[in-house]
Amino acid sequence: MSTMLVTGGTGTLGRIVTERLRADGHEVRVLSRHAQPYAVDLRKGGPGLDTAMAGVDTVVHCASSPNGGDEDAARHLIAAARGAGVRHLVYISIVGVDRVPFGYYRSKLAVERLVEESGLGWTVLRATQFHDLLARMLGALAKLPVVLLPARVKDQPIEVAEVAERLAELAEGEPAGRVTDIGGPEVRTFDSLARSYLKATGRRRLVVSVPLWGRAYGAFRSGGHLAPEHAVGKGTFEEYLDRRSGHRS
Ligand SMILES: NC(=O)c1ccc[n+]([C@@H]2O[C@H](COP(=O)([O-])OP(=O)(O)OC[C@H]3O[C@@H](n4cnc5c(N)ncnc54)[C@H](OP(=O)(O)O)[C@@H]3O)[C@@H](O)[C@H]2O)c1
Repeated sequence: MSTMLVTGGTGTLGRIVTERLRADGHEVRVLSRHAQPYAVDLRKGGPGLDTAMAGVDTVVHCASSPNGGDEDAARHLIAAARGAGVRHLVYISIVGVDRVPFGYYRSKLAVERLVEESGLGWTVLRATQFHDLLARMLGALAKLPVVLLPARVKDQPIEVAEVAERLAELAEGEPAGRVTDIGGPEVRTFDSLARSYLKATGRRRLVVSVPLWGRAYGAFRSGGHLAPEHAVGKGTFEEYLDRRSGHRS
């Protein structure tokens, strides 16, 4: 059993990874900006980060913000991990970060490079979009009477617990480098995913596909963010929605 640090261990993914590793008997510390006693803003680093890292064998890096700062955060994390003699750094990335020129994906790719060049033992897993993210996105779009979707873009959402399971398994193993991507069970049009969401949440909306422009959109349209050859996830979006509405009723 070892001492592990899960950054972003209060988030959608990190929370499940933490539970899973604790269930296996590891001592798991959770770090985030608000997680006491390891409340650290990784973009700033500081002595709190060194305290959190002292005696840690494995770091699972799930903390991230689409609003920026991930590269600075990774630099601070890596410096602290090196200082503390961490053996294994595990990073969760996104399928297609090297194919889709989208701002957040660029920073995920840059963090992958920092991890690879950290001098630490490392493992990087890329996953497709979590069901939770897709549902949040569709929920925001469904606030309007007409749901506007990017035309001809597909998605391959995955159950976050399945990603957490794989990430925990990797954290318990030896550093493995870039491992095989993990993708959801089905590649679906946004249109069909949106219709499932609307049905499950009892909303009636007009769904309209809108062609967009730009290189990032072109790359999404070409499926750069998909991993059809690694459709290993089992849980479907409909199963996720059923479970979610069951929790609500
Ligand atoms: N969501 C997806 O569909 C998806 C798909 C593939 C890969 N991923 C990757 O999986 C990881 C986790 O995603 P998620 O959806 O679980 O994220 P999330 O729910 O938004 O959680 C983010 C976590 O990071 C922490 N955090 C954010 N900024 C921080 C900072 N500056 N310093 C310290 N902690 C910070 C947050 O806690 P505080 O607010 O307390 O700081 C929170 O615990 C990310 O790396 C993401 O890129 C996500």
